[in-house]
Amino acid sequence: MISTGVHFLTLALLAATLLALGTGLPQAGSLGSGSVEMAGALALYLQFGALSLVWLVTAPFWRKEHPRFRDGGWPSLRAMAWVAPLATLAQIALGALYRYGMAGVIPHVTWAFAAAILLLMFGSFVISQQGAGPALRRMAVLLVSATGLQVVLGVMALLDRVAQLGGSWIRWAARAHLAAGAIVLGLAVILAAFVLRCAEPASQTEPATSNGTNA
Ligand code: HEM
Repeated sequence: MISTGVHFLTLALLAATLLALGTGLPQAGSLGSGSVEMAGALALYLQFGALSLVWLVTAPFWRKEHPRFRDGGWPSLRAMAWVAPLATLAQIALGALYRYGMAGVIPHVTWAFAAAILLLMFGSFVISQQGAGPALRRMAVLLVSATGLQVVLGVMALLDRVAQLGGSWIRWAARAHLAAGAIVLGLAVILAAFVLRCAEPASQTEPATSNGTNA
């Protein structure tokens, strides 16, 4: 009962945080210091990531049994579960450094390739695990879709900033890129927690197989 209440409260907080990220992030220069603006923005993203985890562990489906499978491939899903949220957080921090004038756009765009490839691999490997349950696979599909969309929105945000095309749709896409960054982080955290629960470390005596074809 308490858990269900917390679950719905968390959902409301997640929606409010997303709204704040899409419409209310401080503009560069609005608070007088890039570091303060960046700290405020990063706090909201971290809050979204932490709330996503609370939402997951208080969800009714989390209390059910979930199929376990052997994490026998390379790279291991358990290792990717630790690295993927951290790589996403680094990507967000580089975005904030650019937005608040403390770095150029190159680090954010360059790291985007590494982060996106890692997230897409993580999601695809989970989807292709035959032992993975439907809830786990659904989260992986969401992560892969959100990551693909985020890269497209990022290109639009860049066009908005650099080419200053000025259309309302491109401004909308740039705002959506800010909010979708939190969704990607939240899904990476959720999928990581799910994988750490369901993927059992492979025994060292058994040969490793590719994650993509692990039967
Ligand atoms: C997984 C991929 C990506 C993630 C998670 C991501 C995330 C973010 C986040 C969270 C911000 C805002 C940071 C803040 O203000 O605190 C941001 C800003 C930005 N990103 Fe990305 N990004 C990704 C990929 C890309 C790509 C591929 C591009 C361009 C080719 C791009 C271009 C931009 C630009 C131009 C901004 C500044 C937007 C503005 O000031 O309104 N991003 N990104």
